[in-house]
Amino acid sequence: MNWRVVLFSLLVSLLIIKFGMCQKIEPGLKTKAEKRPNGKSKSGKGPGKTPASKPKVKTTPETPKEAQTYLTQVVNKGRFQKAGDTLTVHAGDTLELRCKGNPVEWAVPAYLEEDDEGRLRTVQHERYGTLFLANSTAADTGEFTCYPIHCEDKDCRKQYDKGVKVFIFFSDPQELFVPSADYYEVIQLRTNWPTVLPCQVTSPLAKVTLHREFPLVEVNVDGQEISFDVKKGFIIHRPKQYHAGSLYCVASLGNLRQSSTKYMLIYVNYPAAPPSPAIQASSDTEAVGQNLQVTCTVIGEQDVVVDFTWEYPGQKIGRPLYTQDSVQTVQVDGQNRQRTQTILLVDEVREVDQGTYTCTAQNLEGSRSASTSVKVQQSARTNTKPKKP
Ligand SMILES: *[C@@H]1O[C@H](CO)[C@@H](O)[C@H](O)[C@H]1NC(C)=O
Repeated sequence: MNWRVVLFSLLVSLLIIKFGMCQKIEPGLKTKAEKRPNGKSKSGKGPGKTPASKPKVKTTPETPKEAQTYLTQVVNKGRFQKAGDTLTVHAGDTLELRCKGNPVEWAVPAYLEEDDEGRLRTVQHERYGTLFLANSTAADTGEFTCYPIHCEDKDCRKQYDKGVKVFIFFSDPQELFVPSADYYEVIQLRTNWPTVLPCQVTSPLAKVTLHREFPLVEVNVDGQEISFDVKKGFIIHRPKQYHAGSLYCVASLGNLRQSSTKYMLIYVNYPAAPPSPAIQASSDTEAVGQNLQVTCTVIGEQDVVVDFTWEYPGQKIGRPLYTQDSVQTVQVDGQNRQRTQTILLVDEVREVDQGTYTCTAQNLEGSRSASTSVKVQQSARTNTKPKKP
């Protein structure tokens, strides 16, 4: 055997061993994630979360694509700490994160993205990237992500699926909640759509409760209907009418007890689907001078507003048309349904009215269109009519 073959088989066996190790590590990682508060490790099991998969042999061929990405926090000069799912940093301190890879790209909480006042700095080194955040504040609390960039020649791509995330709490003894600029925030409660009350704490150790203002009561957080996520706030999983009102969070830690911004929850009855309009003209072929009616009907859920818009041939010459709109409750298969209808009235049809009539119905969930075409026939009786609109 020549030395190339030996080296190659050695590499293959190393890769196999490495692969085997990763496989064994996975279940352990999962149990760890389940133990976290709320059991919600949204960040998943990125490749960087595999602590033991650090390459042991320097000769392992590593394209950036296969490279392990992971985050470390530089605690003191020369002292590193692997960043887990979350990190807590004292507000005021400087954060220094390292992420293996060249190049890497960083994503920071939206607040920092907009307004870092020169406190945020990133540096790319030969084997890793560094993020520095000076004079940190409670408002910097949020998710920091490092994405490896994979380059082929000059074509570089951010590897979204390989991003390594760490949620960082910047704990401030004066601010248990991430400060908000608003005294209150209006939040829509959408039917069957989880609603988040974003009372973000600055310390994972704070005890957080949810309260209603009128009447003043503590809201029961059972983990099913309403749950608490230390990285998000309270989540109302299936909003109902009775969740509406003015709510706020209270956090306590040590002797400190603070209230969050107030959240005005407004219930909006969202339809399950966009409307399905049906269109029908009073006649497919209409004689000049006759009256034409095009009816567009939506049968759907009750108490859902449907808006209509029309497109019609006479539009291009500015022909004004009129509509008759109505809403009615009708019985369909023994159930109460809402019939929303618009009738487009085309009085004294002219040649310009020939063509396609389209009705678009819209509700909060989206819009759908329906079309029909109408032919206009000359009739001797109306030939003398002026053609101006
Ligand atoms: C951090 O705060 C100190 C004191 O206010 C100031 O002198 C320094 O310039 C700040 N550093 C950055 C990077 O903003």
